[in-house]
Amino acid sequence: MQLNAPLDMHLHLRDGEMLEKIAKSSAETFSGAIIMPNLVPPVSTKEEVVAYRQRIEKAIGKETFTPYMTLFFKPSYDKAFLESIKDEITAIKLYPAGITTNSEGGVSGFDVEELRPALEAMSELNIPLCVHGETNGFVMDREAEFASIYERLATAFPKLKIIMEHITTKSSVDLLDKFENLYASITIHHLLITLDDVAGGMLKPHLFCKPIAKRPEDRDALLKVALAAHPKVMFGSDSAPHPKHAKEACGCAAGVFTSPIALQLLAELFDNNNASVENLQAFVSGNAQNIYDISVPNKTVFLEKTPFKVPSDYNGVVPMYADEEIAYSITKVENN
Ligand code: DOR
Ligand code: ZN
Repeated sequence: MQLNAPLDMHLHLRDGEMLEKIAKSSAETFSGAIIMPNLVPPVSTKEEVVAYRQRIEKAIGKETFTPYMTLFFKPSYDKAFLESIKDEITAIKLYPAGITTNSEGGVSGFDVEELRPALEAMSELNIPLCVHGETNGFVMDREAEFASIYERLATAFPKLKIIMEHITTKSSVDLLDKFENLYASITIHHLLITLDDVAGGMLKPHLFCKPIAKRPEDRDALLKVALAAHPKVMFGSDSAPHPKHAKEACGCAAGVFTSPIALQLLAELFDNNNASVENLQAFVSGNAQNIYDISVPNKTVFLEKTPFKVPSDYNGVVPMYADEEIAYSITKVENN
């Protein structure tokens, strides 16, 4: 099997030492990725975006890989500011305040009139809005509760492209066909696991993430649109590395590290479900290119159905399925 120009439309590359450790695990196999801005402090000025891109480029070295940069949404962004930064970014990421790692400076209340100046300017400038869609309600209901906020935003800003990030519920899948301007990214872990895998037996800290994995019927709804390569969904790993000590701790950081094994797992998943390679190609690249209207550097990844033993860690970061065998291996990557 071969995949052309795979894209990861939701990635945490971090900064400093962690960036140096993990950047290559995406850059070696993906053509590009949407880079999340939840650093400390969050990426929110032109200088910060440009400097962060340069640090990423340095960390990936000579690999062919485009970091599609994002900015951390603030209601105070005005049109002049957005115009000045438009060419440096591909999207803007909105976090509800305090909902996940480094999101304290995010949005509270979701008052449309308060958000209108920034969101209308983004709409006019054709800058997509990526959203972490969770309320601060009961953990299993947070995403479903956010559906009414998605509906409010999609209705108030009909020309704004809104990407529901890392969706985990049937309620989010149902919104895709209700609103023309709603799209979604889906992770590999939410296609594979449910809450049972995280907490049904011994607690698995390396599968703990936000949003938490949900019920089997939610996973089924995600699988249905991913395997069919519904044109409004795309792969976004939400690969979110944390040091081993921060995961295997009393107070476990949220995030699943999947970037080095994401394509192998996707190949296995599509194969096990008799979904076509064409659909996988659309899910992992074509749909994202259409949704974001981006051009992508060439890269061909060759995969084979040969077992691959997942390492126990990558530079001290424990991946999903550490020490386990998965069915597909990457045999070759051509940058062309
Ligand atoms: O599990 C998560 N980890 N979810 C997020 O939204 C953020 C991410 C992180 O940055 O660690
Ligand atoms: Zn994320």
